[in-house]
Amino acid sequence: MGAPILSLAPMQAISTLAFWRVMERRGGPDVYITEYFRVHVHSTPERQILASLNETRFDKPILAQMIGTEPDYLVRTAIKIQELTDCAGIDLNLGCPSPRVCGRAAGGALLRSTDLIREIIEQLRPVVKGSLTIKTRVGFESEEEFEELLELFSSLPIDGLAIHGRTVREKYQSEVHTEEIAKAVARLSCPVHANGSIVTVPTAQAMCRKTGADGLMIGRGAIRNPFLFDQIRQALSGGNPYLPTLADHLRYVEDLYEEVAKTTWKYEDIKHVQRMKKFMNYIASGIGDGTFSKEIRRTQSPNEFWEVCHRYLGGSELLPEEPTADGKLFCGFKELERSVF
Ligand SMILES: Cc1cc2nc3c(=O)[nH]c(=O)nc-3n(C[C@H](O)[C@H](O)[C@H](O)COP(=O)(O)O)c2cc1C
Repeated sequence: MGAPILSLAPMQAISTLAFWRVMERRGGPDVYITEYFRVHVHSTPERQILASLNETRFDKPILAQMIGTEPDYLVRTAIKIQELTDCAGIDLNLGCPSPRVCGRAAGGALLRSTDLIREIIEQLRPVVKGSLTIKTRVGFESEEEFEELLELFSSLPIDGLAIHGRTVREKYQSEVHTEEIAKAVARLSCPVHANGSIVTVPTAQAMCRKTGADGLMIGRGAIRNPFLFDQIRQALSGGNPYLPTLADHLRYVEDLYEEVAKTTWKYEDIKHVQRMKKFMNYIASGIGDGTFSKEIRRTQSPNEFWEVCHRYLGGSELLPEEPTADGKLFCGFKELERSVF
């Protein structure tokens, strides 16, 4: 088996042009995926997501993700996105657990309507010029539903399947069901990408060992440590991964602050600090026994924000290897690391 393809998970309000630029300067993934385009009767593709696709200047494939339920509207949107961008393909979201999305029978709720999934994919296939992929979970209520889903996926004309190894009900707070991902790898002829709680080199290695997946998709772990993709490449090719310092981490925050400002329409200091806090929840994890996160959350101005960052970051001390396993932002990675086979 060759080296796994590394992708940066789609994340609402995080997987943006600004974040991608910052990641790319630190090695970045092999593949990017946009946050989802919302598809409904009157929707047109969101301008800022189109801009992320069009203004990226690095030569790596980017998949455009869509969320919706109605085959006609999804087809209309896929055609439009491909007209307006050079995306490498279209990805269908079958995993979002948000009550607002599931209430409209979209995202993770679609896992309860296998006939509709088939209809959507069969209608999308002829209009999608590049790759047509699905991002799923292992079931809605229980991982026991995965058998039926695998039956479905194995009969669909898709070019790839990314599996977040939790059910929709489990949201982000459980162990990852690696055995289900391994079953998909064994059964499907298309590439399978494993996702969920990969936050360090050992967790990436464990995910490869336990599932044999063709690719690894990483979300929150890459926000916390933007060097993670390169570290995984270095480790899997037998080298010693680069260990980022708290000075690297400070430069990362500075870089992100600047890029987010550049891509923000009508920049305002206080709103900018609020915008940074979405990233900082993850970036601060594991640093200062939780006090860094708490202090950042209380900041109200750029001056306060940078005063706290400079107190916790900078210097030659290494970034803690792992985030805090707090059950909210990061969980399940200790269990993932434990070797079964
Ligand atoms: C803030 C946030 C936003 C997310 N937005 C999306 C999204 O737009 N589309 C999607 O398929 N998954 C989305 N996800 C789920 C992630 O893509 C990924 O499946 C999940 O975080 C598990 O992977 P990780 O443990 O590597 O973070 C989001 C997750 C987070 C934390």
